[in-house]
Amino acid sequence: MKRDNDLSIREKVVDLIRNKSTSLPTLPVVINNIIITAKNDKTTAADLAGFIANDQTLSARILKIANSVYYGQPKEIDSITRAIIVIGFKEIVSIALGSEIFKTFSTKNSYNMIDMNELWKHSIAVGFAFRHLEKKTRMSFTESAMLSGLLHDIGKIIFILYFPKDYEAVLEEQRRADDVPLDVMERKMLGIDHSEMAYLLMKQWNFPANINLPIRFHHNLSECPFEHLNMATMINIADYLCHRCGIGFSGNLVIERHDSAITGLGLSIESIDTIVHELEEDRPQVDGFLEAMA
Ligand SMILES: [Fe+2]
Ligand SMILES: [Fe+2]
Repeated sequence: MKRDNDLSIREKVVDLIRNKSTSLPTLPVVINNIIITAKNDKTTAADLAGFIANDQTLSARILKIANSVYYGQPKEIDSITRAIIVIGFKEIVSIALGSEIFKTFSTKNSYNMIDMNELWKHSIAVGFAFRHLEKKTRMSFTESAMLSGLLHDIGKIIFILYFPKDYEAVLEEQRRADDVPLDVMERKMLGIDHSEMAYLLMKQWNFPANINLPIRFHHNLSECPFEHLNMATMINIADYLCHRCGIGFSGNLVIERHDSAITGLGLSIESIDTIVHELEEDRPQVDGFLEAMA
């Protein structure tokens, strides 16, 4: 049998995910209930509101986020039922999931590798950029823009928290190499990248394939199953847009623009510049969203 030291990071990650007794964060019961409730076609807004209202802290946070500039409601939303009617079922489920995950991870130490605040800011900004792309392409998805943004780089947080020394070495090597994207360096040194790490975690949490798989392939579009390709491409371009604007920091020093992905969504390269300007103006709103989550 292999000793712990002999295992590759990939093997250790698989161990970490499979071993129920490890300290890998579990989702709070209320979130599991929300996921199960949301999956059921017969679920009504009242059922969902009932689940959320049982948790006062979560309800308060959802209302704070729902009233943030991101949702731009002219009148204050003062109840969960009202939030579901005004913002929509899908968005409320997303806010509940996203904010609980944020809470689960945000208090943990980041060992000063990647500033956690900057990483969350990047993740929120990817949600904003995704929404701009949705409007420009007139596409819509079963999962919300903000949820994809919030979760897309969550694998990095697992690396930072559970494999700090190994991940520090990856970041250091990326700085030295100068021209290697972070996901490539992760695969080379750890045998697994942050998008696959996120996928394994979300699968463990029973998240639906509609969110797991686009995130799994956001840096590897050529391998993405066709039915999830549009969403994976949106995350990829949103990620590029946020790096270009410098909103938050994801730890990736090499930012690639995939022109074929952009044109594949029916967008011109020029329209990307327009979105960059729009996204730059969102900066205070991104800060406001982060504040509402905390
Ligand atoms: Fe990423
Ligand atoms: Fe990212």
